[in-house]
Order: sequence, then C-alpha cells, then structure tokens
Amino acid sequence: MKSVYDTIQDEIKALKAKREAVILAHNYQPGEIQDIADFVGDSLKLAQEARKTDAKVILFCGVHFMAETASILCPDKTVLVPDLQAGCSLADMVLPSDIRKWKAAHPEGVVVCYVNTSAAVKAECDYCCTSSNAEKVVSAIPAGKKILFVPDYFLGSFVKQKTGRADMELWKGYCPTHVMIQANRIEQLKKEHPEAEFVMHPECGCTTKSMHLADRVLSTEGMVRYVKESSAREFIVATETGILHRMQLDNPEKRFIPASEQAVCGYMKMNTLEKMADALENMRNEVRVPEDLARRASRCIERMMEIV
Ligand code: 13P
Repeated sequence: MKSVYDTIQDEIKALKAKREAVILAHNYQPGEIQDIADFVGDSLKLAQEARKTDAKVILFCGVHFMAETASILCPDKTVLVPDLQAGCSLADMVLPSDIRKWKAAHPEGVVVCYVNTSAAVKAECDYCCTSSNAEKVVSAIPAGKKILFVPDYFLGSFVKQKTGRADMELWKGYCPTHVMIQANRIEQLKKEHPEAEFVMHPECGCTTKSMHLADRVLSTEGMVRYVKESSAREFIVATETGILHRMQLDNPEKRFIPASEQAVCGYMKMNTLEKMADALENMRNEVRVPEDLARRASRCIERMMEIV
C-alpha cells in the first residue's frame, strides 16, 4: 500500500517534469526530502550543481543564503524554495554595514566570507569560501596580507590554525545548532565507543577544545565521503543530525552516533514535501537576487570557484 509520502513524492515528481525543474537538497534536509532530490550535498557541491544544470527551475531545499548563491550563479534560472522563512542564524550575525566598518578599521585587510552570509554581505567581501574549501581559499591569499574572516568564529579559528596565518582577525559569529555539540559529551562518547571514528564539522562550537580528538574535521560532503571509504564500523558524527540519514542509507552495515541529538537546525527542518509541491505547482517562493547586487556578490563567489 502506498504511504502518504509516496503519494506526495509522486506528485512532486510529476510537477518537477512539468516545470523542467531540478531538486537540490542540503545534507541537513529531512530524509524524505533528500530521498526525492536529484542531488544531495554540501554548500559547495550544490552551488556547482546549480551552475551545471540545464533545468529551467531549481527547487533549492536548504536555507535562504544557499538559494541566493544559486540565483547569483544562474541568473537565467528561476530559483524556488519550499519556505522563504528558512534562514540561517549564523548568516544573520553579520550585516553589510558591519563589514564596511571593519574594512574601514583595517583598510589593508582582505575580507573572506563564509558562504553562510547574505548576498548583501557577499557584495562587500573579497573572497567567499565554504567549509570544504576555506583552508584552500585562505592559503591562496598572498602571504603577509591581513585577513578578516566572517562570520563563523570556529571555522575561522580552525582555518587560522591549519594555515598558520597569524594576521587573521575573526568575527565572533557562531551556528546555534553546532553549539549544541559539547566537548564533555564527545569525551564521554569516545569512552563509550572506543572503536568509533570521530568526524566533526568545523562550525562546532567545541572545535577549539575537541579538535585533537577528531579523526577528521570535514564539510558535510567530506564527512559523507569519509565514512563511506573508512573501514571503521562505528562513527561519532558532530554536525546537524540530518546528515545521518544519508550516511545510514549509503552504509547500512555501519553505525552512526550523533554527537548531540539536539543538533537539529530548525530552519533546515522548515522545508517539507507539502511546501515543495506547493512551490512547484504555484511557482511560489522565488529567490532572485537583484542584478546589481548579484553582480557585486558574484565577485567573491567566482574567486572561490576559480580556486576549487
Ligand atoms: P557544508 O557546506 O559543510 O554543508 O555546511 C553548510 C552549513 O550551513 C553548515 O551549517
């Protein structure tokens, strides 16, 4: 017998064909959305897929800044989201006026923004990066240049340590979901599961304290790849719990333990199958970055795309 999910998934498939759409879903999306997506991945992979697609419509199941990036990269496509309110608290922690002030205080500084920023913030920045390429992007900036990194303090600290760039100032933003992951819980889980490998996202608030415990600090896509290739049977996973769906599907014989059951992003979970069907049926919830802003914001994104 067909479940309610099967019925709505069939409806979405029909609407997708009618609209000549592609569905992109972030690794943190609810499992039933990942299951119907054409591509599931991290911020970088989804931006690359958006750029490559021949589809007329991109239904972006993630959060607002991701859809903005797709709109900037594909101005001739219609980018829809299931829910326009699905934002990002980390991205909201820095405003364009903050960047202008920071640059005025450090006119020699090169501003690197994490992709978790609005298009308006990106328009003020020199380089964009994601968690999978931040180290590479920062390393590509000539030595001796001062770097201003926004908005994630923990990703910034991680990159600063990895690259050894002493002259790097960090904005003090953070992801409230990753803050739920605590160092003492990780230590406890490591004791309870001594054979488990421990993979961690660099946005974790405890990166600075627990990095020495991690087998790998990786982007979400990097984690998905790593757990597939590793011969370990158990993994402690320190990031938003939506990623466990894909990990478990890819590796039914392996065990995945969330570093925190509370690491659930409320914004990512605002998207539903019903809202996806509604967006495609009514061509609702378009995210379109105005041309002039898109042109200015695209500079730092294009620089990143050239580096990776
Ligand atoms: P990834 O690029 O690793 O998927 O991270 C995106 C994100 O928003 C993490 O909170």
